[in-house]
Amino acid sequence: MPHVVIVGTQWGDEGKGKIVDVLSRHVGAVARFQGGNNAGHTLVVEGKKVVLHLLPSGVLRDDCLCVIGNGVVVDPAVLLEELDELGETGRVLGPERLRISAQAHVIMPYHLALDRLREAALGDGRIGTTCRGIGPCYEDKVARRGVRMSDLVRPEVLRERIARVLPEKNGAIAALGGEPLDLDAIVEALSPLGERLAPFVGDAAAELHRLHRRGRSILFEGAQGTFLDIDHGTYPYVTSSSTVAGGACAGSGVGPTLIDEVVGIAKAYTTRVGSGCFPTEDLGEPGERLRAQGAEFGATTGRPRRCGWFDAPLVRHAARLNGLTRLALTKLDVLSGLSEVPLCVAYEGYDRESFPAALDDVTPIYETMPGWEGDLSGCRSISELPANALRYVQRVEELVGIPVELVSVGPGRSDTILHGDLFTR
Ligand code: IMP
Repeated sequence: MPHVVIVGTQWGDEGKGKIVDVLSRHVGAVARFQGGNNAGHTLVVEGKKVVLHLLPSGVLRDDCLCVIGNGVVVDPAVLLEELDELGETGRVLGPERLRISAQAHVIMPYHLALDRLREAALGDGRIGTTCRGIGPCYEDKVARRGVRMSDLVRPEVLRERIARVLPEKNGAIAALGGEPLDLDAIVEALSPLGERLAPFVGDAAAELHRLHRRGRSILFEGAQGTFLDIDHGTYPYVTSSSTVAGGACAGSGVGPTLIDEVVGIAKAYTTRVGSGCFPTEDLGEPGERLRAQGAEFGATTGRPRRCGWFDAPLVRHAARLNGLTRLALTKLDVLSGLSEVPLCVAYEGYDRESFPAALDDVTPIYETMPGWEGDLSGCRSISELPANALRYVQRVEELVGIPVELVSVGPGRSDTILHGDLFTR
């Protein structure tokens, strides 16, 4: 099994969890490399629902190390809550199974306050963030005034780090109409969390290299999606990290030569949460149908997702930005029952190789594919799909230029068509 990076090719929520689950059967570690608890996916453990925001999806595999890489931003309270919740299902994730990079940055109470206050101040111009403090935490990291996990676990250092920035933070909070925060209260609240997390904190990159030397493979689990990337996304309506595959290296401490495969996950249609352009969005009844059929509500915020049609130029561009080697197409079953399925094949004025710098005023060109009927969830091979569903998959593959080697046909773990050597090993 090679080292594999998994990324979303649209605006997140492509259904990465299920694909990570399929692939993690064979790996020695699953590593998160960016984002924080703005991500979210639901697992069912022993009949109990567990929503993971921060923990890598390898939590269910007993022999799999879970790594929170240096590129991740960590809210300690949320992480401990997740560990406790998992513990309640009988799955205790001890320090031998979870490594948190000492270099990962900590989401502080003032990051949460600033995220909320800024969004409120922006009114209609808001980004639509998850209000989890992600952006303000990354800002501090880049501005060299952040608090890292290595600081959180040393109370004297923690106090000193916070004391240095708090006056400025309180100034910004007050300017936005918020309540200033108290140094003692922050240190008091965070110190016990640091104490509990200390056994998990260490050199995450070294652990990955150790596994590599032992011939175990690593799965790098991306969060959000390509077009929420801080550089390549629909700026400024983006998240604050590098969501593209290149981010896996910087965010975990491995070099690019270690990566063998990059799997892109694409939903068979498109969704987006939060503000920002969305060329193939359907604001009418068909879009509402996609939301209802696909249960398109955010796992983190519960917000209804905006829905629209598959955008081939977008995913083709994602293939270039990430160096995709394989594509997984999810939620094909949601399109069943439509008499026709619109598919965006190009943007007016752009050829296969070019992509607009901004998506605000592109005009999508649609092809209308014939629809299909019936429940796809029993299909276990491509040849079992209704002829028009197969035609749709093949057209997506042709337009994106990457082989579709996994098709998800229902919400269940087994409702998946696998082919190609990576997924069927
Ligand atoms: P932030 O990451 O909370 O700063 O939010 C920035 C933008 O990214 C907003 O539009 C969010 O809705 C979006 N976003 C962040 N995380 C996710 C995710 O996991 N899925 C989909 N959208 C996300």
